[in-house]
Amino acid sequence: MSDYLSESINDILSISRLAPSVHNSQPWKVKVQGENMVILLDGDRLLTHGDPAGRQAFISLGIFTEACLIALEHLGFKAGAPRMENETVIIKTAPKSGAPADEDIEALRQRFTDRSVYKKTAFSPADAARLNTLWHSKNIQIRSTGDRPIIERCAQLTRQALLLAFSNPAFRQELTEFFSSSAKVPYGIPLSTLGAPRLKSLFVKRLINSGVNRRQEAQAEYERWMSASGLVFVLAAGDSKPYWVESGRAYLRASLEVQKMGLSQATSAAIVEAADFHEDIEKLLKTDKRIQAVIRVGRGQSKRRPSGRFTPAELLAT
Ligand SMILES: Cc1cc2nc3c(=O)[nH]c(=O)nc-3n(C[C@H](O)[C@H](O)[C@H](O)COP(=O)(O)O)c2cc1C
Repeated sequence: MSDYLSESINDILSISRLAPSVHNSQPWKVKVQGENMVILLDGDRLLTHGDPAGRQAFISLGIFTEACLIALEHLGFKAGAPRMENETVIIKTAPKSGAPADEDIEALRQRFTDRSVYKKTAFSPADAARLNTLWHSKNIQIRSTGDRPIIERCAQLTRQALLLAFSNPAFRQELTEFFSSSAKVPYGIPLSTLGAPRLKSLFVKRLINSGVNRRQEAQAEYERWMSASGLVFVLAAGDSKPYWVESGRAYLRASLEVQKMGLSQATSAAIVEAADFHEDIEKLLKTDKRIQAVIRVGRGQSKRRPSGRFTPAELLAT
């Protein structure tokens, strides 16, 4: 009985490894301790310049935690509420008892980041409500909107925040180290997902690293955000590790729901991380909570562009 988790960890991780993360860094490792699944932050995959506070890493850890819960449920295991101990998340499990649940698995397999300029599509108050009611907790809220002034302000601030980030050579260097030549590389962002024409994508790494085209890059991102039909915000009552982890969990639920709604999605951490830019949008949203993540949604390309992932064996802490 005490080995049931070790025996199934491969199956669990072959689902939860699909979780998205900042720069596709997948900053997590997993250990089985009896009936507990222990999720650790992988110190080798943290972003010194892109994520100095560690917010994006812990949000990513929360996303992976939720993907583990989905995997456990899918395989018929029971799982307790994840709890945090220092920088570690612990999920207490119980042996298989329920019937497999397939609901979220397909969405997890199909979702991907679509960085194209989107076409206009409907994003109704009912769509927003569907997303806003996904997460129930006093600490974390999902807030979605199709409001044009908010979308436009977000696009402007994203452009400004990217210009700021791209003016730092160390940020550019670190980002381009995560660019990969194909989805066969198990981590990082394949150049083919960046939305550049094929020929240009060959030079993108050098171009971004040099910083010469940073105005064009920021402008292109502005246009992508302007093309959103809706935005999904994850808001938190605080701004520390437990809030970041729970924000990540809510993020994955929102991301999967967007996929189930047949919409495309992309994320930018730019306004979350740049100085106090987030406050501007929080005022427009009339919230006293802090923005932890933003997803733009709309009608993108139909072609799925997946990114690589580590194998279950690579995720196991030794
Ligand atoms: C917390 C978080 C922050 C992210 N920030 C950005 C970002 O600033 N810019 C961007 O282009 N993509 C961003 N992404 C998207 C990731 O690069 C993407 O999820 C990852 O490469 C895996 O690809 P996939 O979503 O297609 O599976 C972010 C994703 C997460 C989960």
